[in-house]
Amino acid sequence: MKIIAVVSAKGGVGKTTATANLCAAFKQSGRNVLAVDLDPQNALHLHFGGDPQRIAGTSRATLTGQDWREISVSSPSGIVVMPYGAVNEHDRQSFERHLDAHPDWLHRNLRALDLGTEDLVVLDTPPGPSIYMRAALTAARLTVIVTLPDAASYATLPMMEGLVQTYCAMRPDFLGHVFVVNQVDNSRLLARDVLQVMRANFGERVVGVVHQDQSVSEALAFNQSVLDYDPRCQATLDYQACARNIEAMLPAFAPSP
Ligand SMILES: Nc1ncnc2c1ncn2[C@@H]1O[C@H](COP(=O)(O)OP(=O)(O)OP(=O)(O)O)[C@@H](O)[C@H]1O
Ligand SMILES: [Mg+2]
Repeated sequence: MKIIAVVSAKGGVGKTTATANLCAAFKQSGRNVLAVDLDPQNALHLHFGGDPQRIAGTSRATLTGQDWREISVSSPSGIVVMPYGAVNEHDRQSFERHLDAHPDWLHRNLRALDLGTEDLVVLDTPPGPSIYMRAALTAARLTVIVTLPDAASYATLPMMEGLVQTYCAMRPDFLGHVFVVNQVDNSRLLARDVLQVMRANFGERVVGVVHQDQSVSEALAFNQSVLDYDPRCQATLDYQACARNIEAMLPAFAPSP
């Protein structure tokens, strides 16, 4: 199993959308894919045709001791999704206390699923430092930082790199962190400039540029990945290219301990 965490310090940059569509692209390339939602917004499963009323998920399963296999849902294209689930405020706090007290919670539950060595697990996280981001960074072999091509997002990158440094860099099996620049509009000078600066600073670690594309929000309205909704649109091509670049890094992964 190869675990990829999708993170950002800033909210609303496209993490959940990137998680869903990278999963769709990995699946297209023949991988077994598990998408895990670690965000109380519980939005990831909606990209895969999930039922908005659904309450089962990792949060409640953790509190009740239910097996994760029983709460997973399969998308029409065969991606397995672990929703966060719907919990009341009291249960959310209990769940977060559990995560705080059990730093190996995520890794332990994923290992219990007996996934294949080449199977991919992609983790969606809430923005900014949180118990969920800590869990994701602690388990990840590769971290994907999603950012927008604007000054506000760019300014948060050192903080995000600091968190990666804190939770990942010490582990010999950690491959590194890469960047996906989302919502790029080439007609905007600022977007082109920020992209240029990012490429100059981070080189090949900028593994993906996803253009602003209305098919992205339309796809979510139809509870589909962009790849399924509009196979030929710009964003589909972008996510596919991004997934290829990430997969090209995977042979460097060591087997999970
Ligand atoms: N490339 C894109 N083109 C157009 N719209 C996009 C693109 N990427 C994301 N969006 C839209 O941006 C909004 C935010 O996306 P998303 O929910 O994935 O962000 P997020 O980082 O997961 O947010 P949060 O920090 O709240 O978890 C959504 O409405 C989504 O449809
Ligand atoms: Mg999100």
